Amino acid sequence: MTVIEVVLGDITAEDVAAIVTAANESLLGGGGVDGAIHRAAGPELARAGGAIAPCDPGDAKATPAFDLDPPVRHVIHTVGPVWEGGTYGEDDTLASCYRRCLEVADELGAAEVAFPAIATGVYGFPPERAARIAVATIRSTPTRVHRVRLVAFDAAARDLLLDALNG
Ligand code: APR
Repeated sequence: MTVIEVVLGDITAEDVAAIVTAANESLLGGGGVDGAIHRAAGPELARAGGAIAPCDPGDAKATPAFDLDPPVRHVIHTVGPVWEGGTYGEDDTLASCYRRCLEVADELGAAEVAFPAIATGVYGFPPERAARIAVATIRSTPTRVHRVRLVAFDAAARDLLLDALNG
């Protein structure tokens, strides 16, 4: 049974085995949460990401966490959908991000994983809809991950995740 927690904070401060970054297909880093994680992990992260790029939207690929503090050992890079109004399979691509990250975490033997609100920033995915997809997908994906932390960067995002979790 996977425990799902909602927390407010900076994902780079999470004490879990693997943290997920909302990347772009190059895996070279960017702004938002990807920028924060690359700054914390150091330049090796972009080199390792570039070596296994591209990452398709909906897929997930792992690298070491480099300069991120223990117990973080892995960064799982996933590429969310750019929101284009909802009729281009965006929901399915976002669900695939969460599913693939859990599969990769299982391959890594990571028992605890922290996720940001994938695609809800630059990519413009409606946060309430994304929160519902995140919770539903995690609940319906068989995985050995026993704790998932959904990290909100602001109180509004936290409240939407809590509504999705307790709704
Ligand atoms: N910790 C946790 N969450 C964060 C942090 C942080 N340090 N910084 C930002 N966030 C949140 C944002 O508030 C948003 O809710 O992460 C969520 C995802 O937003 P983005 O980082 O903009 O990611 P996304 O919408 O998936 O766009 C990805 O942006 O940074 C580039 O390289 C990235 O091209 C890719 C695109």
